[in-house]
Amino acid sequence: MERTFVMVKPDGVKRGVIGSIINRFEQKGFALMAIKLMQIDLALAEEHYRDLRTKPFFGELVGYLTSGSVCAMIWEGPNAVANARSLIGKTNPVEAAPGTIRGDYAMDVAGNIVHGSDSPESAAREIGLFFTQELPITTFMGFPYNEQ
Ligand code: PPS
Repeated sequence: MERTFVMVKPDGVKRGVIGSIINRFEQKGFALMAIKLMQIDLALAEEHYRDLRTKPFFGELVGYLTSGSVCAMIWEGPNAVANARSLIGKTNPVEAAPGTIRGDYAMDVAGNIVHGSDSPESAAREIGLFFTQELPITTFMGFPYNEQ
């Protein structure tokens, strides 16, 4: 079992497609471990994308991420990082296949609707940034749940 970090970006929240995105993860077979709607500040956005700080689009990217609420989630399943990446689709929606989230909901790389961790190491780092409290395996949306 593996966990990955997924975030619906501000354009996805504004367009009201959080539910549709959650639905795709549930249909695929992922288990939702934690979810929260939050407004992130510049410091968190810059830390989240720290590996991209030399890119010419860095300012635009962190500006976009802080432009409205985001929906941060932890999803669990076998090969969660790789499975989430294929469900989300290619970074540039122009290249993302129909049937993927970006292929179906986005048109431009500067508004590609959702983020998914690119490796198990990134997932652990990003989960730690957005969810400061360690979550036990039997926690569902912050509440203990019965698996039956
Ligand atoms: S790169 O350049 O290869 O490191 O970038 P990539 O791994 O494909 O994407 C990393 C994140 O940068 C975002 N991105 C952009 N934002 C705005 N403008 C442009 N031109 C752009 N190019 C890439 C991309 O959406 C990725 O964001 P996340 O949230 O990680 O998916």
